[in-house]
Amino acid sequence: MNLLVTGGAGFIGSNFIHHVLRDHPQVNLVNVDALTYCGNLENLAAVKDHPRYRFIKADIADPEAMERIFAETRFDAVANFAAETHVDRSITGPAVFLHTNVLGTQVLLDLTMKHRVPRFLQISTDEVYGSLPETGAFTESTPLAPNSPYSSSKAGADLLVRAYVHTYGLDAVITRCSNNYGPFQFPEKLIPLMITNALEGRPLPVYGDGLNVRDWLHVEDHCRAAWLALEKGGRGDVYNVGGSNEWNNLALVKELLRLLGKPETLITFVKDRPGHDRRYAIDAAKISRDLGWHPTYDFSSGLKTTVDWYLANESWWRRVKSGEYQKYYQEQYRL
Ligand code: NAD
Ligand code: TYD
Repeated sequence: MNLLVTGGAGFIGSNFIHHVLRDHPQVNLVNVDALTYCGNLENLAAVKDHPRYRFIKADIADPEAMERIFAETRFDAVANFAAETHVDRSITGPAVFLHTNVLGTQVLLDLTMKHRVPRFLQISTDEVYGSLPETGAFTESTPLAPNSPYSSSKAGADLLVRAYVHTYGLDAVITRCSNNYGPFQFPEKLIPLMITNALEGRPLPVYGDGLNVRDWLHVEDHCRAAWLALEKGGRGDVYNVGGSNEWNNLALVKELLRLLGKPETLITFVKDRPGHDRRYAIDAAKISRDLGWHPTYDFSSGLKTTVDWYLANESWWRRVKSGEYQKYYQEQYRL
């Protein structure tokens, strides 16, 4: 099987590549990534010379570059992880979110059709559903009500995928996952930012009252769900993925400080994010019933192993925070 993975140098994409190369020996994998600020080939150093893996630097929204890639290999499936993903960045600069998340997805969909690739997986997010009150959970039929430029660009991509299924008969599937945590997450997102700031003795910036709720899932469980959806998901189907594991930000940050043995005095309340979604929670009954997916990590051990990973990989996150990591791929890949 020839699989095209986009955005494979990012957090979830790189975990997915490790997962596929380890657990699915029939797969030859091509990773296309533009290496934006959050693309880091150090995440893939262990598989750089793997016989079933190849990296190509390209922008998914560049039709000519992507055409060459599709023409060169007869792909059996495309898994689109590439995206601009940070809500705060989308608030200060939405344009690149539309470029990659909407136009990039459209380029991939067009080439998937043109080259008759039999299967397309769109990695989406629970954020397309907007914000929940204190109770209830998102199901696949919850109306889309995105609130940030990030989530609205992801919703736009989801609607395009839906349109290609209905209009052109594309065989595509969409997953909408809750917040992920685990190794290789860029330290601008909550968990790695708080771990690394605490280790550096820097303040931990908690937005607003700290009582916004997220439903956390280990990235490895997301990777297993993505593979199952790719392999067995129904044509045109959407699958919510989540761990039934709700935490408010303040409680989570305190738990991280406890695991690290650092004082709560590092917590600093800062101005709230504009339009900040209050609560996300996923009802994952469909993927569990139809595809047999269940999370395997319990949060306390998943969080502990994640903290341990950042402790053991201090040079990785220090190089990301200092910007040094970008030299790695320039040297190793002569890019
Ligand atoms: P990330 O920001 O860590 O990585 C994104 C990757 O995409 C990077 O390697 C980047 O270089 C690449 N990229 C960006 N623009 C590109 C372009 N134009 N062409 C090619 N590559 C490009 O993101 P992540 O957290 O790994 O998220 C991956 C996917 O999962 C995204 O689609 C995101 O919406 C979705 N998702 C993320 C979470 C989460 O908690 N992180 C939860 C649910 C869904
Ligand atoms: P984030 O990791 O950016 O994911 P998302 O906004 O996509 O859910 O943020 C998770 C939660 O943590 C969200 O409620 C915003 C909050 N947050 C902070 O309180 N401080 C921070 O410095 C960051 C990055 C996030």
